[in-house]
Amino acid sequence: MFGEASGKGLISIEDWSLWRIEACLERARGIFEARRRGEPIPYKVEGKTLATLFYEPSTRTRVSFELAAQELGMKVLSIQAAASSVTKGESLLDSVRTLEAMGVDVIVLRHPLSGAPAFVAGHSRAAIINAGDGMHEHPTQALLDAFTVWRAKGRIQGLTVAICGDVLHSRVARSDALLFSRFGCEVRFVGPLALLPRNPSALGARCFSDMREGLAGADVVIALRLQKERMDSALVPSLAEYAKRYGINSASLALAKPDAVVLHPGPMHRGVEISEEVIESERALIFTQVEAGVAVRMALLMDVVGE
Ligand code: NCD
Repeated sequence: MFGEASGKGLISIEDWSLWRIEACLERARGIFEARRRGEPIPYKVEGKTLATLFYEPSTRTRVSFELAAQELGMKVLSIQAAASSVTKGESLLDSVRTLEAMGVDVIVLRHPLSGAPAFVAGHSRAAIINAGDGMHEHPTQALLDAFTVWRAKGRIQGLTVAICGDVLHSRVARSDALLFSRFGCEVRFVGPLALLPRNPSALGARCFSDMREGLAGADVVIALRLQKERMDSALVPSLAEYAKRYGINSASLALAKPDAVVLHPGPMHRGVEISEEVIESERALIFTQVEAGVAVRMALLMDVVGE
């Protein structure tokens, strides 16, 4: 959608060709295994600077970008809007230009407005990486989700992926659907009607409000947080009722394939969209996703500013 403006960075999962994505995941695999074995990573991106510029809270995404950049030998700056000149009324573009003027090569931007990273990319010399823009996209989360699935299942092609819960407000769901459908997966959005998007086919997905139908035959189940900060009014009757009808728990997971794996981008609400029991089970790959996030973001930075 905003692909034209993205330049050398990554704004939407649609900006990158499948071969570029596969090359990134392939490189991430080497990095992931080396990190697990405690071996040094044979790649360096020295002499380059990365800034994280976050206008929304984050734990995983910001820390893993910063760690990834540090492990590659980059200089790292961390700017959280709440503690910057943004509070004095500085515009997004002026903040970006200020960072550029200091010689920053890569800006990892999280912003509540859909389209903000694409806008900035059209006016910036630095590579812009979208770390989540409103309800639009979160492409690096999709890359690490695909990596985690590939590692667990040995393939991505042809899998059935059920993305469950508050799909409507989720940028992760949008990027995941775009990516998994490009890999030839059957992508399903599963949840109460009020939390499902109206145009799933534009994202390569189909909607199911019946858990039984939506989870039947699923190889991968991705649980999503209820994103109350993006809801104008309460869209679910009560958390207890939501957990019972649409939560991923041992009973609902039994509707999927016996070897189905469970992902969650975090932050999790234990006992709401996903049960304690599932989180602590062998089938949950939630902390592997976090581990994969560092390797995948290192591979991504190699692509964007390496060599
Ligand atoms: C997600 C996000 O910020 O979009 N979290 C993340 O980056 N891992 C999902 C969420 O906030 O629920």
